[in-house]
Parts: sequence; structure tokens; C-alpha cells
Amino acid sequence: MQHPAFDKNLYIARRKALAASLGKDGVAVIPTASEQPRNRDSDFLFRHDSYFYYLTGFTEPNACLVLFGNGESTLFCQPKDLEREIWDGYRLGPDSAVAQLGLTQAHSIHDIDKLLPVSLENAGVLWYPFSTHQGLTQQIEGWLKTVQSKARSGISAPQQLRDVCVLLDEMRLIKDSNEIALMRTAAQISAKGHIRAMQFCASSLQDKFALREYHLDAELLYEFRRQGSEYTAYSSIVASGANACVLHYRADKAPIKDGDLVLIDAGCEFASYAGDITRTFPANGRFTKSQRAVYDVVLESQYAAVSATRSGALFTDPHQAALKVLAKGLLDLGILDRSEHGGVEDVIEHKHYFPYFMHRTSHWLGMDVHDCGAYTEPVGTGEKRPLSPRILKPGMVLTIEPGLYIRPAPDVPEEFHNIGIRIEDDALVTSGECELFSRDVPVDPLEIEQLMA
Ligand code: GLY
Ligand code: MN
Ligand code: MN
Repeated sequence: MQHPAFDKNLYIARRKALAASLGKDGVAVIPTASEQPRNRDSDFLFRHDSYFYYLTGFTEPNACLVLFGNGESTLFCQPKDLEREIWDGYRLGPDSAVAQLGLTQAHSIHDIDKLLPVSLENAGVLWYPFSTHQGLTQQIEGWLKTVQSKARSGISAPQQLRDVCVLLDEMRLIKDSNEIALMRTAAQISAKGHIRAMQFCASSLQDKFALREYHLDAELLYEFRRQGSEYTAYSSIVASGANACVLHYRADKAPIKDGDLVLIDAGCEFASYAGDITRTFPANGRFTKSQRAVYDVVLESQYAAVSATRSGALFTDPHQAALKVLAKGLLDLGILDRSEHGGVEDVIEHKHYFPYFMHRTSHWLGMDVHDCGAYTEPVGTGEKRPLSPRILKPGMVLTIEPGLYIRPAPDVPEEFHNIGIRIEDDALVTSGECELFSRDVPVDPLEIEQLMA
């Protein structure tokens, strides 16, 4: 079923814009995702393909969009089938799809091998997503073979195969006002989940409840679903104590103890758009002196990165701004030794910070948590133009997520051992200061303590 926010005109406009880039004799074939078995006859929860959804707003599995350079569109989708609908749920069906989704025509997905090759007859360029759908290349080869077999009747097959993601990535990189509104909501719901988990954490410890990471995972999910989100945008990370130093940790079974820090990296998906927020907070609601010292460095680095996130800046500018603060912080805290590692410039140049901060500060955010879009672009003129980091433009959305992860080591003061802190917000580039979608959950340590009191 379409999301309540569904507006077919939005998708018609996107298809029109893409069609204009396909060339007059171009045809694009864009399938949705395939269902994935989990075990025996149970599948993972189905999630549509983001490119397909961007152009259709259609969430059923077993569907494929064909878009023509002249703007016409055909959808292949599941046919109406009472017996299957009794087991698996409602299907829109081709007849209703045409009007509801604003397409030129629609057919049963069972007819795709018969009908799709006809769409490719005498087409010049066939566009499809490269390396994103297992088995698609073989299917395409089969369709091309069918067209080629008609060569003696004067019918030609496309001579050029091109990656349609190159066009779609550029479109998806700049969010329109509809997408921005949905992303704002996704972040606001995600923030509510974080607040709920933080407060539940402190009150559970007060009540002497034997709290574990998965309990906070449940609180996050409860709030996300309660607020109308369909899923989490990725598996939530709830990491207590030393687990925060494992970057891809998930919400597991470890106990959460008085005195621990807890790192939660969680975001909901709302109407197909992702929130992506990280907060690190003291389980009992009060930072220790050492925790607070590291927290303050990470927070200052995030503020610096936020200030650097503006139209006209490079994608890498927020990272460079964060690095400067983190490098100084590592020296000031005595985690890096000035006599051995030199000053801030040396620490950055020789990557002495790397054992404590080993990921980038930002990634694009959109329908996919690590959204599509090139991180570099060619500059200058001529044939072989060198690549430079992308210039930020209004409408781009990126995360800002510096961190410090301090594993025990003989040369690191013991008070900092096993402290892992990341602070992550979702930023919209505007013509002025960036807009942070996700600040309904505070980052200020005093505000966090107040929230948890
Ligand atoms: N939650 C995944 C990330 O922050 O990149
Ligand atoms: Mn992120
Ligand atoms: Mn994250």
C-alpha cells in the first residue's frame, strides 16, 4: 500500500526529468529489490529498491519500471490473484496501477520476458542499474538476444548499455522539498527514540533493573513504530562500555552498568527516508570527569564540523575541521604525547589520530542510510579532468559524526581506556548555515544530564 504521503505527481515529475536524460531512443529498465530468504520458507522483511521507489512510490515486490526517452512509462507488477492476496496481502495490480501511479501502461510481471524485448526494439541505448541487482545482467542478456534474433526482419537491438544510476545518483543527491520534509520527520522521530532510550536507561539503573543493551534497542523500536516509522533505517547500535569502540557493533546482550557510557547509533526510516543519529551518554545520567573530558573534545569537533558544512564548501571541509579539534584534544588529554607526536599539524599529517578516529566524518543521507551520490567531481577543463571533493550545494543532506574510540594501550592514560564516543547529526546544506534535522535530542552534556535526571 502507498504511504499516506504518496503524491503521484511527484513521481511523474521525477520520471519526466529522468526521461529527458535518456536520449530520444533511450530506454531505462529499473527493477525493485528482490525478496531475500532468511531461513527455510521465511523471508527477510521486504524493502523496495530506493531507485525504483524514487521513480514510482510503489512498494510491492516483483515489479519493474520501464521508462522511455519520450516520457512514456510501463510498469510490470504482480497481477491480482485472490488466493495469493489471501496469503500475502493486497496487490495493486496492473489495471489500477496505471491511474494510481500515473503510468502510460502496466502489465503482469509474468509477461515481462515476452513484452520487455519488444520495448527494446530499435532502441539506441539501454539504461539499467549496474551491479545492484543480482541476476539482472543475465536477464538483460536474454532480452537482448530475443531482440537480436529479429535482425533479419530489420529490427535492431540497443548498441549501448549504460548505468542509469549515474543519472539517478545526481538527481537523488539534491533533495527536493518533499524529501526534505520527510527527512526532517525521520530525524525528529529518531530523536524521540533516543530520548526515550536515554531516560529508560537512567531510570532502569535507579530501579536496579538488570539492564542489557537489547532493552534499549526495544525502547528505540517502540518509539519509532509508535510514531509511524516503518522500520529502523539500519540495525541499531547500542553499545555499552568498551563495546562502543567496536564501530559496527549492534544492540547485543551486554549488561549496562552504573558508570558505563552507552553509545546509541540508531535512526528510523519514515516514508522510505532515513534518520541517522548517534548519542553517547552516561548510563546513570552523570558523566565522570574522564568521560566528560573526552566528550567535550568530540562535541567541540562536531561544532567545528557543523560550522564548516555550508554551501560552497568541500565535502571534506567538515572532516578537516573536526580533525583539527580532535588532534588538539588527543594532545591536550595526553593520549598523544607532544614530545613524540609533535603539534596538531604533525598529528594530522602523519595520521597519528587514526588509532582513535578511523572513519570519515560524513556520508550522504537519504533513502539509503549511506545514500548514493559521488563524493568527488571533476574540476577544470579538458578531457582528463582531475577529481576534487564534491562542492556542497543547498539540498544535499549529510551526516556529521566525529568520534573518539580509545582502546586500552600502555601509552594511553588508564582513565580513558575503553571510552568510545561518537556524536552524529543529520545536516541539510542551505544557502546559509546548515539545518540540523536531528537536534531534538540534545548534544550538550548538561542538557543530557538534565534529560536523564
Ligand atoms: N549508522 C551508520 C552510520 O552512522 O554510518
Ligand atoms: Mn552515519
Ligand atoms: Mn549512524
